[in-house]
Amino acid sequence: MTRRMAFLKGKTADIKTIAVLTSGGDAPGMNAAIRGVVRTAVVNGLKVKGIRRGYTGLLEEDFVDMDARSTSDIIQHGGTILYTARCAEMMHDEGVARAAEILKKNNIDGLVVIGGDGSYRGARALAEKGANVVGVPGTIDLDIACTDYTIGFDTALNTAMECIDRVRDTSASHERCSIIEVMGRKAGHIALWCGIANGAEEILIPERYDYEEQAIIDRIALRKRLGKRLHIIINAEGIGDSNGMAKRIEEATGLETRATIIGYIQRGGSPTCRDRVFASVMGSKAVDILVSGGKNRVVCYREGKFTDMDIFEALEMQKDIDNSLWEISRKLCR
Ligand code: F6P
Repeated sequence: MTRRMAFLKGKTADIKTIAVLTSGGDAPGMNAAIRGVVRTAVVNGLKVKGIRRGYTGLLEEDFVDMDARSTSDIIQHGGTILYTARCAEMMHDEGVARAAEILKKNNIDGLVVIGGDGSYRGARALAEKGANVVGVPGTIDLDIACTDYTIGFDTALNTAMECIDRVRDTSASHERCSIIEVMGRKAGHIALWCGIANGAEEILIPERYDYEEQAIIDRIALRKRLGKRLHIIINAEGIGDSNGMAKRIEEATGLETRATIIGYIQRGGSPTCRDRVFASVMGSKAVDILVSGGKNRVVCYREGKFTDMDIFEALEMQKDIDNSLWEISRKLCR
């Protein structure tokens, strides 16, 4: 919605300048979201300040004026042109108060925060100090409860899936067991999706793992007796200990077992089409919210629709993995 359309609809905010930052772990598609924010702001006649290095840059007043041209030729690139950081000062009241004061002093009427759960908590703290913030979910982990989609998840999944296929080739040739650890912090979304997509024999995720390692060993031993030559275990970062697990499985089953930790490879790279488009829509929507008078909201994708909700409400929600996917995986992992 342009400013004029918002005005005609009777809803418009008196905002002139907005700022945008990316925070926490970078995610492919963040650049598309920045572009969506900047260009939609320009269309609405707003000034846009890019804040470098997330909240750290906010506290250092590391601002850069942005226009449509500052976001040319970035949509296809991973990472974030605004850089990112994890800012310890935003965990303390003093740092938050100073950040809110800086926004006020620089006449920033609305701040778009592109990031994950920790970044959202920083945004909520700023809102409590009187700032107007809009969150855009940017994390490969998919661990934000209010939304079914987060920027970067799709690209990270596809990258991890491809890596796992490669490990599978060499594991098959050597008739080995492979434990492949994927990212996700405390959440198992990447592990669950890849476990299904890569046809894994075992999927270990923090939300459902019972730490019964002997049961895994018994299943591998049984599959080996039944003639299975390749065993792929997808282990979520939140469980970890992939190297230790590999050693114990090898000792117990006599099967050569190796651990591969995919790591940061899954956080970089050119975003998929879905991440580019969804991130563009979400960035644009964040500005629409500010223009139409929205305060302290988060952009979400729920039940197949882009929407938004109150940031305080959003952060009260708890996320679980998609149980229907988990149940299906129970039938397919054999
Ligand atoms: O939140 C994204 C993520 O890649 C997690 O999956 C991982 O646990 C974490 O960031 C790693 O963070 P850092 O870049 O600080 O090592």
